[in-house]
Amino acid sequence: MFLIVIVILKALFFNLSESSLKTLQNATTYDLGDHTIVSSSNVFPYVAAILNKSQYLCAGALIDESWVLTAADSVFLFRDSLRLIHVRLGSINNKNGGRLLPIKLIEFHPYFDDQKPEFDVALIQLAKRVRLTQNLNPIRLQRKPKQVMATHFIVTAWPAQHTSSAELYKVASVQGVERRRTLQVAHLHPTKPEQCAEVLEELGFLKTNIMCLDQSLGIDPCSRDVGAPVVLNGILWGVVSSWAPEDCDLLPGPTFVTLASAPNVSSWIHATMRGVTWHTWTIFDTDYEDYDDDD
Ligand SMILES: *[C@@H]1O[C@H](CO)[C@@H](O)[C@H](O)[C@H]1NC(C)=O
Ligand SMILES: *[C@@H]1O[C@H](CO)[C@@H](O)[C@H](O)[C@H]1NC(C)=O
Repeated sequence: MFLIVIVILKALFFNLSESSLKTLQNATTYDLGDHTIVSSSNVFPYVAAILNKSQYLCAGALIDESWVLTAADSVFLFRDSLRLIHVRLGSINNKNGGRLLPIKLIEFHPYFDDQKPEFDVALIQLAKRVRLTQNLNPIRLQRKPKQVMATHFIVTAWPAQHTSSAELYKVASVQGVERRRTLQVAHLHPTKPEQCAEVLEELGFLKTNIMCLDQSLGIDPCSRDVGAPVVLNGILWGVVSSWAPEDCDLLPGPTFVTLASAPNVSSWIHATMRGVTWHTWTIFDTDYEDYDDDD
C-alpha cells in the first residue's frame, strides 16, 4: 500500500511527456495497478467526462463534432432529465478546463438491458457541434468485427468515486482531491480468448458483442472504468461496461467492453449519427475509409 502511494506521488510530480509517460507506465505498471495519471490533454483528445451537473458520472469518447459514445447504464437514469447532463471535453481534469457543454439528447441502444453488457452503449448528442482543437478531437471507430491480437488496449477514465481505490487516494492526502479529478490511463491486457468465451458462455452473453480485458491489479475488483474508451492504435474498439458479477469481490472476473463493431451496434451508431431510424436490417455502404490497419 505504502509503495503504491509513493509511486502515485512520483507519477504526480513528474510532468510527463507522451514518451516518458510510456516509459513510466512500463516501469510502474504493476505497482499502480496498471493505472497512471495523465498529464497532458493532447494525448487523449477524444476522452469525454460525463457529468451530472458537476459530479463525475462516467467517461466517454468523442466520435465526431457532436457525438459522444458512452455506456448506457451510467446515463440511463437521466433519460428524462437531460438538462442535468454536461460533457467536459478537452481537459484531463473533470472539474476544470477544456469545454463544458450541455447536451441535446441521449440515444440508448434499443437492445440495452441493464442486466447485460452486450448493448451497454449510448450516444450523447452535444447541444452544438464543438470546435476541434489539438486537445479536443474525435477518435475513429473500429467498424468491422475483428479478432483480438493485441497485447494491450489503452483505457482512459477518471477514478470511480466511493470505491476502495478512492480510499487509496485519500492516503495521498495533499494531492488527493486533484488526483481524483485527473484522467488516468491503463494498459489492459485482453483476456485469453478461450477464457473470455467460457465466461461469456457461462453468463449467456453474446460473444460477438463483448471483449474481455483482464482486471487491473490493485484496483477495486467490483469497480469498472464505466464508459472508458478502449483504444488500439488510435482506433476506438468499444467502451467499458459497468457490468460486474454480483460476487465480484470474491471472483473478480474480466472487465467487459461493449464493442462498437458488434453486429447491431455498429449499424445503430451510424444510423443514429445520421439521424436515420435504425432497424436490424440497416446496412450502411462502406463508403468510408477502411481503418483496418492494426500494427
Ligand atoms: C445528480 O446530482 C444530484 C446533485 O447535484 C444528486 O442529488 C443526484 O442524486 C445525482 N443523480 C445521480 C443519478 O447520480
Ligand atoms: C441482431 O438483431 C436481430 C434482431 O433481434 C437478431 O435476430 C440478430 O441475431 C442480431 N444479431 C446479432 C449478431 O446479435
